Amino acid sequence: MDQEERRSLGAHYTSEENILKVLEALFLDDLYDEFERSKNTVRELESFHEKLASLTFLDSACGSGNFLVMTYQKLRELEFEVLKMIHDSSQLRMVDIFVKVSIDQFYGIEYEEFPTEVAKVSMLLIKHLMDQRVSNHFGFNLIDFPVKENANILNANALRVDWNDLIDAVNLDYIIGNPPFVGARIMASRQKKDIHLVLEGIKNIGNLDYVSAWYAKAADMIEENKDLKAAFVSTNSICQGEQVAILWKYFRQWYGAREFINNEPRYCLYLGDANPRDLRKMPLVIERIENVRKLRLKSKSEGTRKIADIPTKFHITNISNGDYLLIPETSSENRKYIPIGFMNKESLASNAVRIMPNATTYHFGILTSNVHNAWIRMVGGRLKSDYRYSKNIVYNNFPWPQVDKASKDNVAEYAKAVLNVRKKYSDWSYADLYGVLFMPKDLIRAHRELDKAVWEAYGRAWNISSEKECVSHLMKIYNNLIRC
Ligand SMILES: C[S@@+](CC[C@H](N)C(=O)[O-])C[C@H]1O[C@@H](n2cnc3c(N)ncnc32)[C@H](O)[C@@H]1O
Repeated sequence: MDQEERRSLGAHYTSEENILKVLEALFLDDLYDEFERSKNTVRELESFHEKLASLTFLDSACGSGNFLVMTYQKLRELEFEVLKMIHDSSQLRMVDIFVKVSIDQFYGIEYEEFPTEVAKVSMLLIKHLMDQRVSNHFGFNLIDFPVKENANILNANALRVDWNDLIDAVNLDYIIGNPPFVGARIMASRQKKDIHLVLEGIKNIGNLDYVSAWYAKAADMIEENKDLKAAFVSTNSICQGEQVAILWKYFRQWYGAREFINNEPRYCLYLGDANPRDLRKMPLVIERIENVRKLRLKSKSEGTRKIADIPTKFHITNISNGDYLLIPETSSENRKYIPIGFMNKESLASNAVRIMPNATTYHFGILTSNVHNAWIRMVGGRLKSDYRYSKNIVYNNFPWPQVDKASKDNVAEYAKAVLNVRKKYSDWSYADLYGVLFMPKDLIRAHRELDKAVWEAYGRAWNISSEKECVSHLMKIYNNLIRC
């Protein structure tokens, strides 16, 4: 496959480290614990052994089968430990009931023919290796030839087959894998059809990543078997942008100053409008709500204890009805421009940022200009040496220019140009965009032009290159305003 084909199929090799992260969290750690607890009696060990031999796994975008191979290997290693504890190393007679974990327990679906075949062969190879290890230890030949077992790997489009036809949801224990991420904008038309087949009727379907269909199909299987568990390797693109609202209804991105500047949102469960019927289906969420209630009840503050009976609500809710402008409360003194930006209304803001609902590009233009930044440097407080933006001192006292429509539009136009340049660097964080080391030349230029437009909006009242003259002019306007 060349690079372009790989990109369009979302076919990327999954590292052992990432595979293990999924497997350990989903079931391996629990199995290791259960093994520890089963060591007391042979009967417990035997029953644990039966369990290992009964588990079933599906990777519905299995590529060359790395997840299945590693899962099988881990199960066989555990089984090996069990066998060593149950049997001593003298020769055993009942060979055929000895090793019970089988490659039959593994299911895969892969679109491409070649990796499908590689997956089948890899499962046979790992079985052979594990058989050899056990044989060497117990001193007899366990090698199964001709091989009677086979992994169930299907060469098909996973979004066009019913996974139940390969293994019934009620007989399946785990869905694992690294399904393909293919962004809505680069998706092939065949893939768009796939996603429509799976998710027909869902709002904003045109914005969803191809991978969403795997989540939806896994969720359908879980609907049929509530004990079935699933985990996929995911990049954060699944939890960014429009998809949040659709797939992870109750998860919202949450921004404090640090999260905003470094473009590393945190996620929080926002249950403000949640329907209790939905919540009851999510036991872990109920547990969280209960924990919040208990924690609030224990609080020394009367105010906090009072809100213990509304545990699905925040203490203070900083939510805008529409998109808003976000200004971090503290930011590094090394930046010429404090990074500020528009946020969509689904993103929540912490108390470490200031928000301006209904802001326009004109507002953005003035607030991001060197004039406003000079004002912040003069009147804003400092936290250590960092700038501190406060609503009362910095924002409420700031003397806005008296503008006519033409100069307002002019500022807005240059502000838009700044936003457009930022779009070119959409995967950069504000820390990088506005840092002294990396600020791109075209962004510096766009800011300079905006600064000039803002200077003109103030009637070119000072020497443009002098911050000192700028702030003394602002102070003059401020004094006039308070005298009125
Ligand atoms: C990220 S890779 C998974 C790689 C695999 N875990 C491994 O390490 O080999 C995603 C796989 O999904 C496959 N794929 C893409 N679209 C598919 C579809 N509609 N049905 C089934 N498999 C698909 C790709 O060919 C690729 O092998």
